[in-house]
Amino acid sequence: MPATEEPKLRGDSAVDPKDDRRGPKVRAMFAGIAGRYDLLNRIISGGRDQAWRRRTVRMAALTGGEHVLDVCCGTGDLALMFWKSRRKPARVVASDFTPEMLTIAADKAGKAGVRLPLCAGDALNLPFADASFDVVSVGYGVRNFQDIDAGLHELARVLKPGGRLAILEATPARGLIGRFANWYINRVVPWLGNLLTGSRDRAYSYLADSIQLFPDANALKARMEAAGFDNVRFRKLNLGTMAIHVGVRAN
Ligand SMILES: C[S@@+](CC[C@H](N)C(=O)[O-])C[C@H]1O[C@@H](n2cnc3c(N)ncnc32)[C@H](O)[C@@H]1O
Repeated sequence: MPATEEPKLRGDSAVDPKDDRRGPKVRAMFAGIAGRYDLLNRIISGGRDQAWRRRTVRMAALTGGEHVLDVCCGTGDLALMFWKSRRKPARVVASDFTPEMLTIAADKAGKAGVRLPLCAGDALNLPFADASFDVVSVGYGVRNFQDIDAGLHELARVLKPGGRLAILEATPARGLIGRFANWYINRVVPWLGNLLTGSRDRAYSYLADSIQLFPDANALKARMEAAGFDNVRFRKLNLGTMAIHVGVRAN
């Protein structure tokens, strides 16, 4: 698709992904699907989503003893994955602005016997002091920020200079694979999502539309650099439909 061509949106999603004041609606949408969120992830990813989180933790390259913050933690899968790293962090904190998601994360951490401090907070205004963390991660969260650039600056703010940001996100795919991915994400996923979550508000249509509008991997890299990250690199996964970006907060 030429860069100038407007992406085709379903237009029936729970939240308008172009609405720059969509925060409260995004929160309500995630509250509505929290109970079935993990199941849907496993199904729509063909059982691969945990492997992508594992890869994100590997790319964050812990050396041991880090203070980690997982933003937009949802049900806690990525935050908990940091504890499975060979080099153990000293502390992992998880934050999200949807209490229903945090409740599930707390339950999961309890069952896993992992100490996971949870914090209700908006990624665009995090309740942490400057330079608090060595590593910050976001899994499938940045796409939901009502202002991506402001969000990236906020993530940089809470990182120590030299600290690492790891972002796992769906990325718009192009070419033949892109056409197949678009068909899957636009047709199959909303149908499955609405069926299995009983979501009448079309949360999984929002997923499709928000991916279409999200910057591609090169553009996200450029926006991370503009927000104060050096050495930004990315790796594409799943036939180019996912990407993990890692950058180092400039001094
Ligand atoms: C698609 S889920 C991802 C959850 C989890 N990170 C994962 O890997 O599955 C997106 C999460 O981001 C949260 N979220 C979206 N925008 C947010 C914001 N501005 N501040 C905090 N949390 C946000 C939602 O509540 C939801 O739990």
